[in-house]
Amino acid sequence: MVIILDGKKCSAMRLELLKEELGDSGLCPRLATVIVGSDPASQMYVRMKHRACEQVGIGSVGIELPADSTTEKVLESVQRLNRDAGIDGILVQLPLPKQVDPERVIESVSPEKDVDGFHPENLGLLFSGKPRFSPCTPSGIMTLFKEYKIPLSGARAVVVGRSIDVGRPMAALLLNADATVTICHSKTKDLAEELKRADILISAIGKAHFIQPEMVKPGAVVIDVGINQLDGKLVGDVDFAKVAGIASAITPVPGGVGPMTIATLMENTCRAAKVKACTSA
Ligand code: GUN
Repeated sequence: MVIILDGKKCSAMRLELLKEELGDSGLCPRLATVIVGSDPASQMYVRMKHRACEQVGIGSVGIELPADSTTEKVLESVQRLNRDAGIDGILVQLPLPKQVDPERVIESVSPEKDVDGFHPENLGLLFSGKPRFSPCTPSGIMTLFKEYKIPLSGARAVVVGRSIDVGRPMAALLLNADATVTICHSKTKDLAEELKRADILISAIGKAHFIQPEMVKPGAVVIDVGINQLDGKLVGDVDFAKVAGIASAITPVPGGVGPMTIATLMENTCRAAKVKACTSA
């Protein structure tokens, strides 16, 4: 029988634990979110992050900038938050409008407050095997592996997608856990053959039902990062109904990876606050 990797349940447990730990510690971490424009999906994600903050006892402030903001305007907001001693974590919701340079914005976030883990300094630390803040989605997937005792050492892991928020950091985290890692992308030759070798298959490409059972090794652990619309329904990159028949474990969409991303953001924010409390003590 296939195991459903229940991110919703695991996330709820982690948030409850964090709430207890925060209550005991006396810390009051604060997260600032920055959203530029009014994309409904981004607004919904930011709302969910604020709701999770409230649930665990993290303070949060939301900065909303108009859709026609310049890069300089966004940088000004981030720099103000960098200087604000009452803010522990900063998250700039992506994607940004076309006229805003995402690299300059990401690099402007103080690495000590970069709870998204996208700053090159934090990605560099992760790739050098000494992570500080790791991006929330791949980090949340590692938590799921731990929770369900999925062995990683020596496993063949194949990551589909090479973005800085998922594919690349996912590969680094798996490598740090002693997996043998392959990253596939749009130029990969014979993708199906690469995928078929995977003990652990992670898809983050954003194509509805792209992963079909004939691409999956029987008994593989399948992680679906995709969130796509298909016939008015939310579906992943993986054809869940078919692939669940041959996988040993699989994440659903929704209720798999998504909730883990939010739980990890809360954990990163608490860690940022703890580190600050220790260094300023
Ligand atoms: N947009 C989609 N996912 C994310 C994320 O994890 N962090 C940020 N900042 N923006 C996103």
